[in-house]
Order: sequence, then C-alpha cells, then structure tokens
Amino acid sequence: MLHNLSTMAGDPLWELTSLFNQDNRKEKVNLIVGVYRDETGVTPVMQVVKDAEHELAKQAKSKCYGELSGNLKFNDQIASFLLGDSENLNRQCTIQTVGGTGALRLLAEFVAHLSPDSIIWNTDPGYINHKPIMESVGLTVKPFRWQQQAGELDIQTCLTDLEDAHEGDIVLLHGCCHNPTGIDPTPEQWQQFADVFKAKGIVPLVDIAYQGFAEAPDKDAAGLRLFVDQLDLVLVAASCSKNMGLYCERTGAAMIVTPDSNKLQSIRTLLESLTRANYSMPPEHGAAVANLLFDNPVPWLNELSVYRNRIKQTRQKLGAILADLNAAPELQLISQQNGMFSMLPLTKEQMAVLREKYAIYGVTNGRINIAGLKQSQIEPLAEALVGVMNQ
Ligand SMILES: Cc1ncc(COP(=O)(O)O)c(C=O)c1O
Repeated sequence: MLHNLSTMAGDPLWELTSLFNQDNRKEKVNLIVGVYRDETGVTPVMQVVKDAEHELAKQAKSKCYGELSGNLKFNDQIASFLLGDSENLNRQCTIQTVGGTGALRLLAEFVAHLSPDSIIWNTDPGYINHKPIMESVGLTVKPFRWQQQAGELDIQTCLTDLEDAHEGDIVLLHGCCHNPTGIDPTPEQWQQFADVFKAKGIVPLVDIAYQGFAEAPDKDAAGLRLFVDQLDLVLVAASCSKNMGLYCERTGAAMIVTPDSNKLQSIRTLLESLTRANYSMPPEHGAAVANLLFDNPVPWLNELSVYRNRIKQTRQKLGAILADLNAAPELQLISQQNGMFSMLPLTKEQMAVLREKYAIYGVTNGRINIAGLKQSQIEPLAEALVGVMNQ
C-alpha cells in the first residue's frame, strides 16, 4: 500500500508558522494564522468560558454517550443565536458539528448525497479550506471574484461571474468578516444576492465563523437572516471557535433551513447517518460551555465586544498611519474592512520581502491577521508595507 504514497506538500500555513518559530529576530510579527490575540500576544480563554468550565466541573455526573445530533440544547440555542427570535426556527434542522470545518464538511456531504451535480460557487479569493472541503466529497467548485470597488463589495462583478450559475447550484458566502478580504456586502447587496438567488433557484450556503466580530451578533447575522426570510432553502455553517474562543474544543453547527417542515425529520436522519459513518457524534464539552454562555449572554457579549473593539481600533490606527505615510489607496482600505483579515495588495515576492527584511509574517497570498497585531507593531507594519510597495 505505502509504495503508492508520494511526498505531499504540507499545509502552507503551518509551514509558514514553523518558519516563524525558527526566526530569532526579537521584533518578528506573526500575522499568519486566524486566531484572535490580545495585547500580550496570547489567544486568551474568555473569562466567561473559565467560569462556565468551573461550573461544569462541579456538575459533572457522567461521560456517557450523547445524542447523534450532539447536544440538543446547544442546537436550539445556536439556532436562535443565528436566526434570532424568528418563525423560521420552526423550519430548520440544526446539528452540532466538529467546529465550523465539520459543519462545512457535513453540508458538503449532504449536498453530494442529494445533488452531486450542484456546482459550488466560491469567492475568489476565498477561505483556504473551502475548496478542498467541497472537492473532497466530489463536488465541483467554481470561483467568482470578490473585490472592493469604491469602498464597497463590487457586487456587479460577483453577479457577472455568477451568471453561469444554474438552478440548484450553491453559492458559498461568508456571513460576515469575509476571510481573507474583510469585505462584506452592504444590506442592499445582501438583498441583491437574495433577488438573484430567488430568481434563479440558487441555494446559498452561508458560512458564519465570525458572528460578533464586525458588529454585534444580531447585526452580523442580518444578511443570513434576510436570506432565511426570503429564500426557501438555506444552508448554514456556524463556528464557536472565534466568538467564544473555543477553537480547540471544536464546537460548531450545521443548519438546513427548508421550505417544507415535513422534511425536517428526514433531514436530521440523513445528517445523523452521515456523521455516524464518520465520527459518530461530536464532543460534548464545547457545546456544554456554549450553553452556559447562551443562558446568560450579557457577560459573554461584553467580553466579545472587547475583542471586536480591539480589532476595530487596530484597523483605524493602521489606516491613520498609512494615510500619514501617503500609502497607496488600496492599502488604506484596510481601515474600512471587517473582522480579523485583510488582503495586502502585495505579490508573493513582496510578501517574502516583508518576511525576510522586516520579520513580518503573513500568508503568501497577502492575507494578514489584523487581530494578531500588538499596538506597538502597528507603526512598524505600516512603514514596512510602504517600504515594500515603494521598493
Ligand atoms: C470562513 C471560515 N469558515 C470556517 C472556519 C473553520 O472554523 P473552525 O475553526 O470552527 O473549524 C474558519 C476558520 O478559520 C473560517 O475562517
């Protein structure tokens, strides 16, 4: 068997991280992986999560198996977090997954099972793992361009590229804080997408991994909610990795919103049979923590707002310094974008200069994690960016 095993390239992000770890320069800056960091450079455990874990440790009675759909209370609570207090809750099926990645994979398997010829339309640039996940179940992925025009998403270009999308195809959109560009649709643009999807029978898959990172969670879910209000079938992948800081607890959810609530039981049975043949059921701990946060949301949402505001302030400060330095206009757009990521308008070669000359590590395609920046690193970054672009 192993004679068929060829040497494979490793994951590019982890390879860059290993280069970063070997770099001895004191001033080195890690903007590679998408995790929130505080001013000390740590990805903290939220205080509300620590408190919840103490509570759970006191209550612990059994580690017996749970349900195939995971923690049922979590499924109800995250469904409400996503859709708000809405009638639409009566026409959705939500199942706990192994993080947002697990949700994407499960939805991909669901689509491949029921509609294997559906094309997945993916933003270009897009989240590095979307294409491999969709292709790993045999689905075909096609790109549509995702770029900024006059300070907004250039929706005309998106819609032009989507002209070839047919009934039953899936368009994968990010609920907020698009990874890697930070460019989100305006409310009017969400409506434009909804109109086209309705007219053409296109099904949206909304991947919402950063709810609460651009604006308060209800506002960040507004595009998703507009789709669910107006469209028959909507697929949703959600993650608690970022907004609860539960990264390694692998906590997320897959939701199917259906026009026909008679189908809900069959949808659940199919989803459960897909996970049963894979990992059986998701881990309990993260969902149990999430339940305590949902039960008493105010302290959690306050802590989340600290994260959000830190990222916003970092963007504003970086934007102001870039303006003072007369940086190229496309660099200054960073201050208007949302969430953890932005794409630098730099080539692979320029990203290598940023790394080698300035010890600043971003992904080779230009993506940087704004949430990885300390205040003291903002000015050096701005100067390095201008230096690299003027070189
Ligand atoms: C757009 C997007 N979707 C999904 C995920 C996966 O989330 P999780 O870590 O919960 O698997 C990420 C993580 O970076 C992401 O950026």
